[in-house]
Amino acid sequence: MNILVTAGSTREPLDPVRYLTNRSSGKMGYALANAGAQLGHRVTLISGPTHLDIPINVDYVPVETAQEMFEATSIHIARADAAIFSAAVADYRPATFAENKIRKSEDRLTIELVRNADILGSARTEFRYEGVLVGFAAETENLEEHAREKLHRKGCDLVVANDVSQSGIGFDSDHNEVLLIYPDRTESLPVETKEHLAHLIVQAVQELRIRKG
Ligand code: CTP
Repeated sequence: MNILVTAGSTREPLDPVRYLTNRSSGKMGYALANAGAQLGHRVTLISGPTHLDIPINVDYVPVETAQEMFEATSIHIARADAAIFSAAVADYRPATFAENKIRKSEDRLTIELVRNADILGSARTEFRYEGVLVGFAAETENLEEHAREKLHRKGCDLVVANDVSQSGIGFDSDHNEVLLIYPDRTESLPVETKEHLAHLIVQAVQELRIRKG
């Protein structure tokens, strides 16, 4: 299979020396890319900036902003049999980019933000993608209900859901505990290393691909 993986966080620049980002380490996405390659698939990894080593045997596409990730995805998804969206894409970006460094003046500074496009949410609509589609949901409450709503809203075959209110798993951790949310059922996986979970998720994707034909 050709598998596309988005990973990492995005950086939304404010001025030449500052940007908005989030706490995602990219570990889950890189583990998925590695697992895909190890299981014999051709993997394209579209990644925001991380501190991780680039996995071997994958086509690596580095990006910085959500807009760049959107554009790279719109190109590479055309030849994907499965697409796994694990990136923590910034939902908003600064409305304007200051060409020069913003200097301090008043006690309060207001930054206006505008919405970024939803890349996963564009897969079925704008990109007309028909392959296996996997999203991630990081929730702090009503995990299964919110994740299932995302599955339907974004046209996914599977949503990997994790509770980010629990410390020691998820964001920036080497471990995670996830629910696999399918249209017709939910599977609960135990706390595991991200490497092991990544293998289980790629195996789930392989099964979805066989069922889709
Ligand atoms: N995603 C994306 N592009 C965005 C935002 C999110 O592709 N601009 C993808 C993520 O990679 C992930 C899923 O969408 O697979 C997360 O869904 P989202 O609705 O963004 O989750 P939250 O950020 O938790 O959103 P909400 O504020 O709606 O809870």
